[in-house]
Order: sequence, then C-alpha cells, then structure tokens
Amino acid sequence: MKPSRRVIGAEHIRDARRRQRKHVEVMPGDIVTPEARDQAERLGIALRDGPLPRPQPEVTDGATSLRRALWRRSPRWIAPSARRARQPRRFGRIAFVGAGGVGSHAAHLCAMADMAEEIVLIDITPGLAEAFALDIAHASGITRSRCRIRGGQSLAMVEGADVVLVTAGRPRAPGMTRADLIEVNRRVIHATAAAIADHAPQAVVVVVTNPLDEMTYEMLQATGFPRNRVLGMAGTLDSSRFRHALARAAVVDPGDVEALTLGSHGEEMAPIPSASTIKGRPLSAFLSPDQIAACVRDAITGGGHVVALKRTGSAVIAPAHASVEVMDHLRGARSGAVPVSVMLMGEFGLDGVVLGVPGYLGEGGLIEVAEISLTDAERASLHAAAEAIRTRLAS
Ligand code: 2OP
Repeated sequence: MKPSRRVIGAEHIRDARRRQRKHVEVMPGDIVTPEARDQAERLGIALRDGPLPRPQPEVTDGATSLRRALWRRSPRWIAPSARRARQPRRFGRIAFVGAGGVGSHAAHLCAMADMAEEIVLIDITPGLAEAFALDIAHASGITRSRCRIRGGQSLAMVEGADVVLVTAGRPRAPGMTRADLIEVNRRVIHATAAAIADHAPQAVVVVVTNPLDEMTYEMLQATGFPRNRVLGMAGTLDSSRFRHALARAAVVDPGDVEALTLGSHGEEMAPIPSASTIKGRPLSAFLSPDQIAACVRDAITGGGHVVALKRTGSAVIAPAHASVEVMDHLRGARSGAVPVSVMLMGEFGLDGVVLGVPGYLGEGGLIEVAEISLTDAERASLHAAAEAIRTRLAS
C-alpha cells in the first residue's frame, strides 16, 4: 500500500515550533506549500527529506525497568533476588479457641482455603463448637476441602496445634469501649494460655480477643512464649476498614487502595495516611485533607458502628478475614509486611509494650518488625497509643 501524501502547510511549521522541534520530516511525495517554506525559513525550522533514522527503543523486561525506577528513587534500595514461585505451607493443625462469630467464620474460611490437615474448634458453650465443626464438614461435599474438622469443649484440644487463634471472651456491647473488657477477658486469656503452654508449646498464637493489645500482652506473659510466637490481630482489620473508607471516598475499587493502620486496636488507633496510596499515588492526589480525616475517623469508629447496629455482639466477617490474612502470612501465601500487635523491643523508639506495627511473618511467627518511616504526627500517635496501653495495663 502506498503511503498517503501529505500537504505540509504553514500551520504544520507553526505546530512544530510550538513543540520545540528543530525540523519537519518531509516524506517522498509530500507537498510543501510555499507559505510553509517561508514560515520554516523565518522560524529556523529545517525541512528534512525522510524517512529519517529513528532511535531504537530500549528493549527491557518489566522487572528490570522496575528495578531501575526504584533505584532512581532511592540509590540505597537493594534489588530483590529473582522471584520464586510461592508454595504456601499447609498447617498440620489449627486450633480455634472460641467458636463464636469470628472463630467459626475464620474456621470456615480456613477450611475453604484447605489451609490445614485438621481444624479444631473449641468453645465452652456445650455443643457449639461441635455443631460448627459438623456444619463446616458437611459443606466439604461442595467445597471439596480436605481439612478434617472436629469440635469440643476442652482447651486440651489445642494439643499439637501449629497455630492457635484465640477469639474467646466477651464481646463489646453498645456503649462499651474495648478497654471495658479488660478484667473479664484477662481471666479467659490466662486459662487459654495455660492450656496452650501445656499442650501446644510450639504454637504460634494469634490473639483476637479484646482489648486486643492488652490481651496479647497477657497471653505473652502467661504462656512465657518468645515475642515472635504471640501476635495480636487487629491491624489487618483496621487497615481493611481504612482501605474501604478511602476507596468509597475516592470512588475507586478497594483493590486500588493500599492502606495501613497501626497503634492500638482502640481509641488510640493510628491510621497512617503517609504509608497509604490510591492507584499507587499519595492520598492527596485523590482526596482533600478533610476527606482523609473523615476516612481516618471511619477506620477508628468502624467496629463501634457494627456493635451499635447489632446490639448483641461485634463484627465477625471482617475480623475473620483479617485473622485469615495473618495466617496467610504465617504460611507463606502472602508476602510483605503486615500489621500485627507485638511486643516492641526498641522498634519505633518503644520498648516493653505490645502495639500494632508492621511486621514480616513466617512459619515461626514474627520474623522482624518493619520500621517504616512515619511523619512526626504519626510517630506521636504511635507513642500516645503505647502510653495509653501501658496505663491501662498498670491500672
Ligand atoms: C472489631 O473491631 C471485634 O474488635 C473487633 O470489630
């Protein structure tokens, strides 16, 4: 097919000038009007016979481009080694202490994901754990989950578990703060801790019982486990609520948002806008400061809104998913840092307090706390949360 002939007029020359071009390419057969020649001479733009040689685009793979882009942002950044296919670990046994809303939903999700050879549900209410176990097992004809599942009342059933998810305890009622549960749930945590220390001494314990940071501290003390094996699940839930609020406000999909919430799982929760993005860009590219502040409030009050609506008990679906997210990090199904409550040993300038921070997890629990950079205000919120938790525990 013959290339079509163009008529190059004075407007083409002016356009080239606007684009700061030094020449205009004239292909064989193109017609250049006398006005265009005059204009080109006046503006100092050369009319060059084409086709002109073009620079070859640099051919590279996506990973190399990403490395280069990241290196340009921070020369101290070290390129990761080549990606390896991830093969998540299948746990031998996961025990769920508490077969209420969060425990039973989390067990269901774990069974659906075929996450363990065996799932054990435990609850003091006669028949409850057995009923859920049977119900979830009945669904295996559809889900095809290979997990064996059983339920019972005895805490000794945590025997040999790789992971114990502790949701047992009283939930909040409308008007209560999470901190109001500290006395009643401390007793539940101590009884559970004794059974775990006796029957599952190698387990990683994930605490969900409220008040979360305080109960994680109690679990750590009462089991005597090293800090890497006692984690509190709250940051994944609070981050999910923050992400949801940001996605709604910016009218984008939740998948377009990365959001991080640290601090306590309570009044001193610390959503971290500086570490949160929408479509890979800072929040300010999509939202005003007032909108961001409203999303921060939504993340902090989200759990309370569910309690107020339900009147009898707290949220179950989002906390169950958030618990499973922590387990996914433990078994290597997800990578990167994830917020968890852990005992701090100098990280973020804090020591001897259990608080929500980003951490890398593996099959032995916490690998290391990721000390991300925070703004002064965010760092101050983290320290205020630590102080409030210390005070509550001391009283
Ligand atoms: C929540 O925030 C249960 O504390 C939990 O919904």
